[in-house]
Amino acid sequence: MNPYRTLRSVVRVGPIETDRVERRLARAASVADLRRIAKRRLPAGVFDYIDGGADDERTLAANEAAFAAMTFRPRVLRGVEEVEASSMILGRPASLPLVLAPTGFTRIADPEGELAVARSAERAGLPYTLSTLSTRSIEEVRSVSDGRLWFQVYAWRDRGLVREMVDRAAASRFEALVLTVDTAVLGRRERDVRRGFSLPPTIGPGTLLDGVLHPAWSLAFVRSEPIRFANVAGRDVGDGASPVTLSDYINTQFDPGLSWPDVDWLRSIWDGPIVLKGVQTVEDANLAADAGVAAVALSNHGGRQLDGAPTPLSLVAPVADAIGDRCDIICDGGIRRGSDIVKAVAAGATAAMAGRAYLYALGAAGERGVDRLLEWFASDIVRTMSLLGARDIGALGVDLIDLPSPPRDRS
Ligand code: GLV
Repeated sequence: MNPYRTLRSVVRVGPIETDRVERRLARAASVADLRRIAKRRLPAGVFDYIDGGADDERTLAANEAAFAAMTFRPRVLRGVEEVEASSMILGRPASLPLVLAPTGFTRIADPEGELAVARSAERAGLPYTLSTLSTRSIEEVRSVSDGRLWFQVYAWRDRGLVREMVDRAAASRFEALVLTVDTAVLGRRERDVRRGFSLPPTIGPGTLLDGVLHPAWSLAFVRSEPIRFANVAGRDVGDGASPVTLSDYINTQFDPGLSWPDVDWLRSIWDGPIVLKGVQTVEDANLAADAGVAAVALSNHGGRQLDGAPTPLSLVAPVADAIGDRCDIICDGGIRRGSDIVKAVAAGATAAMAGRAYLYALGAAGERGVDRLLEWFASDIVRTMSLLGARDIGALGVDLIDLPSPPRDRS
């Protein structure tokens, strides 16, 4: 046996990838990989702000664990040569049952920030939700995307400011408002407390070494324009020109008095659909449907608010039973794979929402990272549906999963 011949038959030298981002992405196959790369590239304070949750982070962990614990009941011999993953969300078509969640201060993960995510979402044919606390404005985001854009609303104490933002969102052809209702006060994220994390991040003796250890991020950060809360730039509520902790900002600017009549008020100033995000019981889902919202987003804010809150996945089936087809159901919290999205839909959700997953992608590889993630989600969903014997989204039902025991309905 000639070892040289054997070697020659197995060695393949492909072209060497010269693009650094592509090289980085070539080593990633999952959200866990993107998270690991983002952890290496982002300063620890920034990574922990994105990655962390409230208190003991039990709800944060439970969100992912709920998906891991749910198993499928795959059906075979169902002829799945053509699988179609497109879906209807708020009565309009989307390429997948997925919405990109609002995330604050997205530019801390990558200088392009919300612009990158909006462009990527449009390419993927998915709705993107811009946060009130975004670092690119409503108008800037619309200027880079003709896609489906939703606007997330926090209840500022100054309702005039909310009204102004709602009008701006309408003028920029945003499709829906997403009212966040789980943030009467900010959850205590202990990682941020320990690091004294502020927005925008500051460079001081404590963080200097962190910055030096993450030179690519630090260089991009100092080279790009200062990070501001772009929707309130120059306003007296504070736009981040002086760094603040998120808890100080939210607890002084946002109204803990928000209640059901405010949902009616929002409807009186907005003609389009309203999504209520942060619903965590069957009772409140019923009240939301009664209030005429277009969708309830079952969410515990990615485990960042009330530690001990139920996982959104466990709520989907009982909420679907309770509200029927009165409104759409969106499930967020712990979405790391297309198969998680399939589980949420099979349990009864119209769509899933993912936030952290794309922030990891952005921190790991910028806009191309988000593109890659959304491609994975699309191919995961089609593969999972093929293996389940489901040809289209309408075929996904509770018969294809093993449901956990439901939380109690106390209404
Ligand atoms: C903002 O909404 C956050 O959860 O940090």
